[in-house]
Amino acid sequence: MTAAFPATRLRRTRTHEWSRRLHRQTVLSPADLIWPLFVIDGEGVEQPVASLPGVSRWSVDLLLDRVGEASELGIPCVALFPNTPAGLRSEAAEEAWNPDNLICQAVRAIRDRYGDSIGVICDVALDPYTSHGQDGLLDEHGYVANDATLEALVKQSLNQVAAGTDIVAPSDMMDGRVGAIRQALEDAGHANIQIMSYAAKYASAFYGPFRDAVGSGDRLKGDKRTYQLDAGNSDEAMREIALDIAEGADSVMVKPGLAYLDIIRMARDRFDVPVFAYQVSGEYALIEAGVAANVGDREALVMEKLTAFKRAGCAGVLTYYAPFAARILNG
Ligand code: PBG
Repeated sequence: MTAAFPATRLRRTRTHEWSRRLHRQTVLSPADLIWPLFVIDGEGVEQPVASLPGVSRWSVDLLLDRVGEASELGIPCVALFPNTPAGLRSEAAEEAWNPDNLICQAVRAIRDRYGDSIGVICDVALDPYTSHGQDGLLDEHGYVANDATLEALVKQSLNQVAAGTDIVAPSDMMDGRVGAIRQALEDAGHANIQIMSYAAKYASAFYGPFRDAVGSGDRLKGDKRTYQLDAGNSDEAMREIALDIAEGADSVMVKPGLAYLDIIRMARDRFDVPVFAYQVSGEYALIEAGVAANVGDREALVMEKLTAFKRAGCAGVLTYYAPFAARILNG
């Protein structure tokens, strides 16, 4: 006898809100969020970033309030990016290892005020410090020189660690940088400093507003395609991740996020390592533009996308929406 009704009714468990909650597989928590923050020189300064509506650069004193806010919201960690004063940017990026640079001031201030109660990530890459906006040092042909850059990245990392950062996050995509930094950390007795490697970082059109925020966009001539990954490649992303794990990374990042959910999933299936995603500036700006154009509701758009990152396999997400999302999740 043929049943006059569908043998399986998947709609049954979707009927009521309590049941949808009961059956939900992927649930976000504030502990999944990392808040990227931009630091600027001065005192009492909040400077909005024009291309990132709702995001500002903060002087160190006001940055401390944002870090306090993160802490109260249950966000475990913040990631710091400097807008280096123009006069301190140079060909050789020396400001990156100045013990009193903006980032070091910020890290020390956070440590003084909050101790070890919140994690601090410092980005390792030279673009906020170079006069030309590239992540590395240029050779005489204008090519980003790999091995010379490694030495600079090591100095930059040790400088951030001396200031008290918990995690160094190399975002430069030079070959061998995780190994070089890990070796230097061990040699200097910093066995417990984490390396969160931007392992699969693509040469993306979604970074524009970030470059505006750190002030490197106008300086940058050309692009970053000789070191960041090509959007067509996934095997190469897996090789990058495998190398970074072998060189001593504690966690890896896929960046940007949303256009690369397949890379996140592939990484999770292949490696037993925490994978993070960066919902980058262009992704944020596009949502904001969509909200302004009445495409949809901000909360619904943001929570759906953040859930997708976690469903794809992320241990956590770097997002400018971290406080917004945490507020919603905390009810
Ligand atoms: C550069 C860096 C970039 C971002 C984080 N670190 C930009 C780039 O590679 O040009 C982008 C983050 C974002 O767009 O939100 N080291």
